[in-house]
Amino acid sequence: MEMGKSTMFFNQAKKVIPGGVSSPVRAFGSVEDSPPFIVKAKGPYVWDCDGNQYLDFVGSWGTAILGHAPDSVIAAVQNACTNGFSFGASHPGESELAGLIIAAFPSIEKVRFVNSGTEACMTAIRLARGYTGKDKIAKFTGHYHGHSDSLLVKGGSGLLTHAVPDSVGVPKSFVEQTLTLPFNNFEALEELFKKHAKSLSAVILEPIAANCGFVRPKEGFLERLKSLCSKNDTLLIFDEVITGFRVAYGGVQNSLNIKPDLTILGKVIGGGFPLAALCGKAEIMDYLAPNGPVYQAGTLSGNPIAVAAGIKTLKTLAEMKPYKSLHSLTQFLTKELHALGNKYNIPIQVDCEGALFGYFFAPEKITSYEQLTFCDKKLFQRFFSESINQSIYLAPSLYEAGFISTCHLEEHIEKALQVFDKVLKKIS
Ligand SMILES: Cc1ncc(COP(=O)(O)O)c(C=O)c1O
Repeated sequence: MEMGKSTMFFNQAKKVIPGGVSSPVRAFGSVEDSPPFIVKAKGPYVWDCDGNQYLDFVGSWGTAILGHAPDSVIAAVQNACTNGFSFGASHPGESELAGLIIAAFPSIEKVRFVNSGTEACMTAIRLARGYTGKDKIAKFTGHYHGHSDSLLVKGGSGLLTHAVPDSVGVPKSFVEQTLTLPFNNFEALEELFKKHAKSLSAVILEPIAANCGFVRPKEGFLERLKSLCSKNDTLLIFDEVITGFRVAYGGVQNSLNIKPDLTILGKVIGGGFPLAALCGKAEIMDYLAPNGPVYQAGTLSGNPIAVAAGIKTLKTLAEMKPYKSLHSLTQFLTKELHALGNKYNIPIQVDCEGALFGYFFAPEKITSYEQLTFCDKKLFQRFFSESINQSIYLAPSLYEAGFISTCHLEEHIEKALQVFDKVLKKIS
């Protein structure tokens, strides 16, 4: 069979880029497939270099909430470009975007812009340690907060454990101050504070975990966490890099009415460009340099082009509050997918909020990363491969959520469901 251009480019890339990719999940390793090389993205579609068009449910991992390359954002970016690519100096757009974020989140009074979610989470941890004068941090297993050393960890065996590095190259001593516990486990949460409150600077989490599919907090879990944090002078950090402006205008914290001390945003706020932010109460944020003693800096931070894309994106989303049509579309998709599972006797657990959804090939509801072992990995792989062969582009990993955009219409969801019907029939 003739080799496709994607395969050719992938082979070429592997010679000059480790694994042929700039970020590991793009290599399609966990689905044992070869990735298409994308040359164009517009609206709900992406196209590969072999001329195949895909209906996209990845949306650049959640950045493309208005669909790919919306004309209004292109115009804002073009306008920004004509005034220069980067100033290495402050510009009015930064306060405008910060103002939009502050208006959307009751817990946020100040915003510091950076280039990636990794950078924002790393800085949040340093800030929490600097502000509280305590060294330990805690995170939940399966929650992803970028790849900085103290957060790139996995749990040991047991409920509450000292973390172990999740990558070669992270010295054990770097993660000695990181504790891990299972999400939604009240017992482990109580134990955390009983044993470590005095030295615990912060607890960081995804309030809806979207890096292990889609896992909601159990009723009362976040409330209990908030109360323990407040009582023990431990900062509560919500990583809303995925959920921010995606599950609602604002984030999970708005819907649940819980105010964390710090919030991490990324993805949507850059409108498809590299931009993220560390946000929170003024008193804490003012511990950052130049006001305070916690150092952080960045050559391209607050880049005017990314900021212009972010402003246009948030202003457009503000008109869609409270995301009713986005939510009913993801509900339509997930409910029908669940029904198709029943039709073919394949148990599929589904959930969604706003423009974010998740599905698991599992017999029971998944409430933590540990339970992902109940998922049928082989079935997921086949579902993924058959779907992409029929032009439906899903995240190539069991651990990732699904994303829709304002460009996804009912007819697109119907098209996807027709494909899923055929695929599930075939693999059942
Ligand atoms: C919840 C969460 N936090 C942090 C990050 C890291 O962001 P970035 O990839 O921009 O470094 C991600 C990336 O997917 C994420 O999903």
